[in-house]
Amino acid sequence: LREQALNELGSISDERSLENWRVTFLARRGRLADIISRIPSLPVEERPAIGKMANALKAELQQLYESKLSDIRRSAISQVDVTLPGIPPMVGGLHITRQTIYEMVRIFGEMGFSVYEGNEVETDEYNFSLLNIPQEHPARDMWDTIYIDDKLLLATHTSPGQIHVMRKYCPQPIRFVLPGKVHRYEAVSARRESMFYQLEGLAIGEGITLATLKGTFENFARQLFGPNRKLRFRGSYFPFTEPSVEIDITCSCLGKGCILCKGSGWLEIAGGGMVHPVVLRNGGYDPSKVSGFAFGFGVERSVMPRFGIDDIRLFYGNDLRFLRQFS
Ligand code: PHE
Repeated sequence: LREQALNELGSISDERSLENWRVTFLARRGRLADIISRIPSLPVEERPAIGKMANALKAELQQLYESKLSDIRRSAISQVDVTLPGIPPMVGGLHITRQTIYEMVRIFGEMGFSVYEGNEVETDEYNFSLLNIPQEHPARDMWDTIYIDDKLLLATHTSPGQIHVMRKYCPQPIRFVLPGKVHRYEAVSARRESMFYQLEGLAIGEGITLATLKGTFENFARQLFGPNRKLRFRGSYFPFTEPSVEIDITCSCLGKGCILCKGSGWLEIAGGGMVHPVVLRNGGYDPSKVSGFAFGFGVERSVMPRFGIDDIRLFYGNDLRFLRQFS
């Protein structure tokens, strides 16, 4: 039996024939098991010797079987062409808005600004009252607000974060940027979304002036937009800054038909100004000792001229053809 088993094993080179061999010789109903089952019918004095031989043969065949199996498997692997190109896994990427926020935070970080994240759901008090916009004040109409109930609303701007950071750090001097998602009750168009991102900036300390704001903002804009764009600071009005400005940047368009700047050549990208004394006081600072500047920057508004995007709805429309261009 041993000889026959070894002979047959020698000519086997695939897993299926090896399995047949195992069934023939080694399995529970195989030839070897058959021999072992007949041992009890042998004369008593022969049983120990035959039993011993049978067990030894079983161990030998079992071992040969195992090493043959691993030989077959190893040679099967060596036939795989490992130089074939693989199938690349799908990888996600950061949304262009997120990438831009990281870039802005990095630039301001180099100027000593830290990051603070405000709330997407705010109270009426933080979103308006503490920012010097009392109930019934007509300036509330500047922000078309989505209310949750009479006290809670979706933040219409990142400015409420100003009060949160001020109250946390007063009376220390501070420099913060506050990225955040904001909502407006707005008819959506190519220029307006009801949800978008802002980056708020806030610096408070001794001797801060409008010139500090201008210098800081120009340095930032040069890094984000490159050296070839011009900035323009226009006098404006916000209840929480005095004086207030709006900041425009030259549009990348060729003029007339441009949807971004309506052909004017200028794009409004931020509002800002000197923090109003009432707001400083609401944040816990003494306006006779310190002053501060603040600005609020539209993130998508700033991405659009950089890449020539002419419809803000593309940002959150989830069209992969748009999104993949930035990953
Ligand atoms: N919060 C203002 C807006 O959303 C922008 C702004 C921020 C203006 C800070 C002045 C100071 O329009």
